[in-house]
This record gives sequence, structure tokens and C-alpha cells, in this order.
Amino acid sequence: MEEQLDHISAEIYQKSYVIVDNFVDKEFQSALLAEQMQLLGQGKFRHAAVGKGGQKQVRTEIRGDEVHWMDADDLSPLQAAYWEKLEEIRKALNQNCFLGLRSFEGHFARYPIGSFYKRHLDQFQAVPHRVVTVILYLNDSWTQDEEGALRMYIPQEDGSELIEDVLPVGGRLVIFLSGEIPHEVLPTKKERISITGWFRNID
Ligand code: OGA
Ligand code: MN
Repeated sequence: MEEQLDHISAEIYQKSYVIVDNFVDKEFQSALLAEQMQLLGQGKFRHAAVGKGGQKQVRTEIRGDEVHWMDADDLSPLQAAYWEKLEEIRKALNQNCFLGLRSFEGHFARYPIGSFYKRHLDQFQAVPHRVVTVILYLNDSWTQDEEGALRMYIPQEDGSELIEDVLPVGGRLVIFLSGEIPHEVLPTKKERISITGWFRNID
């Protein structure tokens, strides 16, 4: 874990993003997936909205995922275990990258077949407190032809962008600076399950 935390910090410091395969083991991943499926069965997912406050709207031509927010005061044991792992990352990033991260918020997400999320930044004027994005993918298996990649646009020093496509392979964790890396979810050919969250610089 110590080595992994150093690796994560170094990559965030140098490149603003990092991909960690097998961040959770198969057993933990399947348990989280089962929990998400159970919440889904209980009708606890809602179409995700874009915008903030009074501007909030469901616009499936921009994003087609459904989400269920985790309640920090009412986490299941599994969710609490995941938050504890993230807490280690939060501390490491504060120590090594001086990001001043103080809290975490997150939701389960489900992208139905054919859905996507157009290019966006997770930090913008209306949501200034998200500093680091953290995504854990939960699908049992994922192949190239199922598509649905996370496409990140990495800013280069010459002003161009490098495209990095990341398949939502189960157990894979992606971390990036919310205000630095525009990204999108390409249309998926399979139901796509994940937990997305943000470290914030407020409590
Ligand atoms: C988001 C998002 C990317 C992904 O929820 O803001 O960009 O790969 N998710 O699920
Ligand atoms: Mn995003």
C-alpha cells in the first residue's frame, strides 16, 4: 500500500492522472457490484443531471448515466471499507502534492447500453470544490469491442492534447485532477458500472 500510495502521488504530481489496476481484489469488487445491483433493484438510481442548483437538468444528449449518491452518515460496511481506502489516498496526496483535500463525495453510476457522457470538466465555476476525481470500475469483465472507454484529453506543454482511452475494466481505479483534465465517456455497448467520487477542498 505504501508503495502504491507513493506511485499514485508521483503520477498525479507529474502527469495529473494515474491508472491503478487491481486496486481492489476480485472479491471486494464483486461484493460492491452486488451491492450496486441490489440498490438498482430497489429503484434507488436516478438519471444524473447536469448543471447546478436551479440550473439542474436531466439531459441525456449530454449524459445518460444513472446514479445513486452515497450518504457519508449512512455507509454500508462495504462502502465504509472503500472510503477508508480512499482516505489513505487523500492523505498521501495532501502530504506529497499539497492539494489540501478535506472531504470526499461519491456516487454509484450505471451507464445503460448506448449511453455516454460528453466531454466535460468535473471542476467548473458552479462546482469549484472538486479537486481530484476518483473512479473505480466494477464490471466483472470488459473487452475492447464493448467500447465505453473513459477518454481523457491530457493537456500538453505545446498546447495540444494527448488522448488517453481507458477501458472500464473491473478493479481499475482512475484518478485525475478535476480541473485539469477534460474527459468523456464514449458510448457503451454493455451496461457499465462504477463508483465515481471527488476529493474536495471543503468539509
Ligand atoms: C463523471 C465521469 C467517467 C467514467 O461521472 O463525471 O466523467 O469513466 N465519469 O465513468
Ligand atoms: Mn467527469
